[in-house]
Amino acid sequence: MGVIARVDDYLTRFLDHQHLPPNLDAAIRYSLLGGGKRVRPALAWFSAIACGGCGEASLPAGSAIEMVHAFSLIHDDLPAMDDDDMRRGRPTLHRHTNEAMAILAGDAMLSLAYEAVLTHPEPAIALHLCQELGLGTRRMIEGQVYDTLGGMPGSLSEIECVELIHRNKTGALLRASCRMGAISAGASEAALDAITRYSEAIGLQFQIIDDLLDVEGCSQALGKATGKDQAAGKKTYPGVLGVDQSKLLANQLGKAAGDALGELQAMSLGDTTHLRAMGEMLTNRSA
Ligand code: IPE
Ligand code: IPE
Ligand code: MG
Ligand code: MG
Ligand code: MG
Repeated sequence: MGVIARVDDYLTRFLDHQHLPPNLDAAIRYSLLGGGKRVRPALAWFSAIACGGCGEASLPAGSAIEMVHAFSLIHDDLPAMDDDDMRRGRPTLHRHTNEAMAILAGDAMLSLAYEAVLTHPEPAIALHLCQELGLGTRRMIEGQVYDTLGGMPGSLSEIECVELIHRNKTGALLRASCRMGAISAGASEAALDAITRYSEAIGLQFQIIDDLLDVEGCSQALGKATGKDQAAGKKTYPGVLGVDQSKLLANQLGKAAGDALGELQAMSLGDTTHLRAMGEMLTNRSA
């Protein structure tokens, strides 16, 4: 079974044990198990391996992050936020059901995410995972506030504002994915440092490319609407730097991620090749 299938299997079995009201259960399964690239749990899995652990140990962490991610997407699509009708090639949850269920299914997944990390058999690791999950989620929400409602420090330039938004709204959960995978594997501080540098580079890069795909991508391949950011007056990298400069920066961040992995590889803890391949895949992605 590949990593994505392992994650989907874990999430399905985890939900089977929750005995939620059937309408809430159906709404959660619709959003959580209905597609998605599973970038975050894959990063957790490969970070665990890169630190000398086994991917299996990352499943509570990776699944928890995927639930927080699904919650963030459901709320991001609501009329009060980005007002989107399509996600992962299907109607958004509030279109498929209604707004109240979309709000509550998102809330429930945030809570379920903590229940998932607390299943880690080592109490000290479970506590550390909870702290990382809390920090990543809070920063994602801060980023969504900056993105939607403003509130950035007035002293920042336009490009510094976009960087602050992106590092928080998207970078923070990608950072947490890698760190939580590494922590699940009992990584040392030095290994965690290198993983963190990798994750921060790909975290910022991920949203720059998301912004580029909103300008140049194919809506069908992405499974969501394109051309919305400029119309909504969003602060984006292509909007501030232009398309070419944004692509250049995305490639530079890909190289920075590779350099950080070189440091980790020099520690000879585990196999970093999967994480390197993921970095390259994310740099070149078109969906
Ligand atoms: C989309 O994330 C939202 C952003 C943070 C840019 P993904 O591109 O990982 O979405 P899925 O999970 O594959 O649908
Ligand atoms: C989403 O950013 C970030 C989060 C969901 C936290 P976007 O609003 O650009 O994501 P898409 O383009 O709708 O997937
Ligand atoms: Mg948004
Ligand atoms: Mg959006
Ligand atoms: Mg976007």
